[in-house]
Amino acid sequence: MIGTFKALLPILFLGAAMAAQELKPIELPKPDTTGGKPLMQVLKNRHSDREFSADTLPLPVLSNLLWAACGINRAESGKRTAPSAVNWQEIDVYVATAHGLYLYDPAKHALQPVLAEDIRAATGVQPFVKEVPINLVYVADYAKITRASDSDKAFYSAADAAFISENVYLFCASEGLATVVRGSVDRAALAVIMKLRPDQRVVLGQSIGYPKK
Ligand SMILES: Cc1cc2nc3c(=O)[nH]c(=O)nc-3n(C[C@H](O)[C@H](O)[C@H](O)COP(=O)(O)O)c2cc1C
Repeated sequence: MIGTFKALLPILFLGAAMAAQELKPIELPKPDTTGGKPLMQVLKNRHSDREFSADTLPLPVLSNLLWAACGINRAESGKRTAPSAVNWQEIDVYVATAHGLYLYDPAKHALQPVLAEDIRAATGVQPFVKEVPINLVYVADYAKITRASDSDKAFYSAADAAFISENVYLFCASEGLATVVRGSVDRAALAVIMKLRPDQRVVLGQSIGYPKK
């Protein structure tokens, strides 16, 4: 009973943070790095979905998803589950939910509050984005990219975001979640809504939820 209550605490905390209409940092539960389906089955299942149920992701699933995306898998070096050019680690993963916008902090494995607003509709141009439980926004922080031309910054950012996106695809295929990566994003409008600096660039969006029943 106490164990069950403890397991629910992060969810209750998330609910409380939402009800207060002010976002608080969310410490994600430790990711379970032992589970999942065998790789070849996951690759067989990987696909894009554009129809989602309204069911939200439990916090442990969101925790595993974000760790799979670009969590730290080598504590000694701080390197991640996704490769990044020159190890710049310039892609930040923003998490847009019904209750607000968060930034995934891989070092703390936590969600940092950004905006207490539902900006999901602005994270893409397709109708489903406004209702999907989670829209990830991959944002390149050009300030972290050293000694590269603007076209190289755009090239490496796109490649690095794509690796993260594929990790999310594979996690979703393993977990029975629905997902689609989206290049069709009004980047300029979204950057204003997210209050990004000029040297932060929206690269891709990715919607995640449970498949429509
Ligand atoms: C860089 C990139 C951008 C994409 N942009 C969109 C998009 O804006 N909207 C969408 O519905 N699908 C988008 N997709 C998903 C593709 O349409 C999808 O991967 C393709 O149709 C193949 O289907 P599959 O992923 O099920 O194999 C994108 C895929 C990639 C790799």
